[in-house]
Amino acid sequence: MTLNTSMGEINRESIRAMRLSYSQAALNESDIVSDPIAQFVKWLGEASENILVVEPNAMVLATNSGEFPTSRSVLLKDVSEVGFTFFTNYLSRKAEAISKNPKISLLFPWYPMERQVIILGSAEKVSAEESDEYFATRPWASQIGAIASAQSSVLESREALEEKYLRFVEKFPKGSKVPRPEYWGGYLVRPVSIEFWQGRYSRLHDRLRYSRSTPDRPDWSVTRLNP
Ligand SMILES: Cc1cc2nc3c(=O)[nH]c(=O)nc-3n(C[C@H](O)[C@H](O)[C@H](O)COP(=O)(O)O)c2cc1C
Repeated sequence: MTLNTSMGEINRESIRAMRLSYSQAALNESDIVSDPIAQFVKWLGEASENILVVEPNAMVLATNSGEFPTSRSVLLKDVSEVGFTFFTNYLSRKAEAISKNPKISLLFPWYPMERQVIILGSAEKVSAEESDEYFATRPWASQIGAIASAQSSVLESREALEEKYLRFVEKFPKGSKVPRPEYWGGYLVRPVSIEFWQGRYSRLHDRLRYSRSTPDRPDWSVTRLNP
């Protein structure tokens, strides 16, 4: 199959030729700190300072509750010694998957830095107070959007969504306090494995994986994996 674009042809040959050599950095055992969360924060800081990394806090959340694993991007909204927090709709497909199987994966794809971080852990809902506190900091339009969207359920049309949005705009005009709907809130992911990947020459990448037996033990150990 061949498709002509303004940049040339897209076909099997051109797709196969899409490759980069990785050479920006190395990741050595002597470079990392013993706490993987601190190491993650260091890399997040570097990603946030790199203008080529769009949305450094965007991560791919993968869940596996049945026949197909599913994945989607979400935004990291907190990181602490306990774990990683994101916010979403508690009636969404991802929330249903987490209720069936809380074991999830998070992946930060920092391609412009030839880096990725892959986290395995267990997701649990954060407290209502924490969700309230974060919801209150969101821009008004995002608050209304969260109320108006029955995330992941079938929508009959774009117009139906916009009508619903406008109904909530009337109910909660700009400047008024928008209450957090109970079907919207956060998840905390307590990690058991955090892998740092740095692209290297000849596909001899560096992969350092921290793992521990359970989310509540501080017994992290580091192993190097084949690329
Ligand atoms: C960069 C980016 C960030 C996103 N952040 C969030 C988020 O923080 N929370 C959320 O619920 N959806 C977010 N989304 C939308 C999700 O990817 C997804 O479409 C939605 O949550 C429904 O997923 P589900 O049907 O698997 O539950 C984001 C999408 C992108 C591309």
